[in-house]
Amino acid sequence: MAGIIVVGTQWGDEGKGKYIDILSEDADYVVRFSGGNNAGHTIVHEGVKYALHLIPSGILRKNSTCIISNGVVIDPKVLLGELEGLKKQNVETATLYISDRAHVIMPWHIVLDELQEESRSKAGTNLGTTKRGIGPAYTDKAERCGIRMCDLIDPEVFKEKVYENITIKNAIIEKVYGGAPLDADKIIEEYSAYAEQLKPYVRDVNSIIHNALEEGRVVLFEGAQATFLDIDFGTYPYVTSSNPIAGGVCTGAGVGPKMISEVLGVMKAYTTRVGAGPFVTELLDETGDKIRDLGHEYGTTTGRPRRCGWLDAFMLKYAARINGLTGLCMNHLDTIGKLDTIKLCVGYRLDGKLIDYYPASLKELERCEPVYEEFEGWKDTDISKLRRFDSLPNAAKLYVRRIEEVIGVPIKYLGVGPGREQVITM
Ligand code: GDP
Ligand code: IMO
Ligand code: MG
Repeated sequence: MAGIIVVGTQWGDEGKGKYIDILSEDADYVVRFSGGNNAGHTIVHEGVKYALHLIPSGILRKNSTCIISNGVVIDPKVLLGELEGLKKQNVETATLYISDRAHVIMPWHIVLDELQEESRSKAGTNLGTTKRGIGPAYTDKAERCGIRMCDLIDPEVFKEKVYENITIKNAIIEKVYGGAPLDADKIIEEYSAYAEQLKPYVRDVNSIIHNALEEGRVVLFEGAQATFLDIDFGTYPYVTSSNPIAGGVCTGAGVGPKMISEVLGVMKAYTTRVGAGPFVTELLDETGDKIRDLGHEYGTTTGRPRRCGWLDAFMLKYAARINGLTGLCMNHLDTIGKLDTIKLCVGYRLDGKLIDYYPASLKELERCEPVYEEFEGWKDTDISKLRRFDSLPNAAKLYVRRIEEVIGVPIKYLGVGPGREQVITM
């Protein structure tokens, strides 16, 4: 039994796509279990960049089968566009299957996401969502009026469900937000064409995953978003609308916890965040700008500049607990080493006292002061070509070992560049 989960430990964009691509060399299946095309996972192979939003990052390995499971919300147009994009890039791709239980992102979800953000903006409380319809799609799933892939590919059921939804959705769009109503017939025509194209991929993927695990095959579960964007454990309400933590695999792919043998947490050697919300170690000065420049920190999905700050190991201790991490994959060691000095947050002080929990209250979080330790950078050594921990400069080794010590989880892989091969295996 080899179910391996790979999750984000910070606020996303830690480099999960890169590790999924690397680990899928030895995997039989790669399963995306949560989120939607709010995700942007980058793979760099032989100098070519691939940005994936819905398709699992194992797609470039022919040996693995890729699965989009029930926990994901699917925008059919985006998925087809992504498949087309890969075809155009002339790459041989893995087989892809899509769960019949996954929910569909419909046009009203995207419109409502935009209108809700606009309305919150006026009050200064916008979340900075990706405006991809993610929140409204998960809302409908919980409200039990969602449309699943099995409904999309059944013309009669699909039509019925669009008509059932459109009256109330248009009422909300027009009467609450003053937006323009949507045309049900146009939607049915457009989405029926997507359904035809996607139908061959749709099946009961849960049986495929279970058979694979029972046969002892390696199944990688690819996390999107991250622990601090989790709807239960993140910095609510500045979170996404799903459970991207390791526990999300149980509901998002229909797999029991006993089937999991390893949980890998991906992190950067510093912290970034896109969108609004608290960020205790954020740098609003030129050091933050420098990290953004050195790490090319601009969103893969929306192109927005990412907010940057020091590595918060206190946050990661909490992530280790929530996910049951067995190992860490740390990226951008090359980037952070280019600074003269580096700070590492090892704890939070709330009203002057050290705390041992991650505050739920945003008011409390706002009052938290980071406790820093300082380290030397290693800007005279280019580490991007190094492949052994032993050959790293001493300053880099000290930084890495201290991070491991504070979080209490071993680092298994160190990223020293964006490429598939730019990794040190510990
Ligand atoms: P994901 O959403 O977690 O898959 O991460 P993204 O792809 O959104 O963002 C990670 C970015 O960092 C991408 O541009 C990667 O190519 C890049 N990257 C990943 N690992 C490293 C690393 O070790 N060093 C450098 N310099 N770049 C990296
Ligand atoms: P990957 O998988 C970084 C953020 C958005 C916003 C909040 C809610 O590439 O790490 P949503 O559209 O989900 O309702 O937006 O979550 N967000 C991400 N930030 N990486 C992601 O995915 C993200 N997915 C959502 O910026 O703050
Ligand atoms: Mg990303």
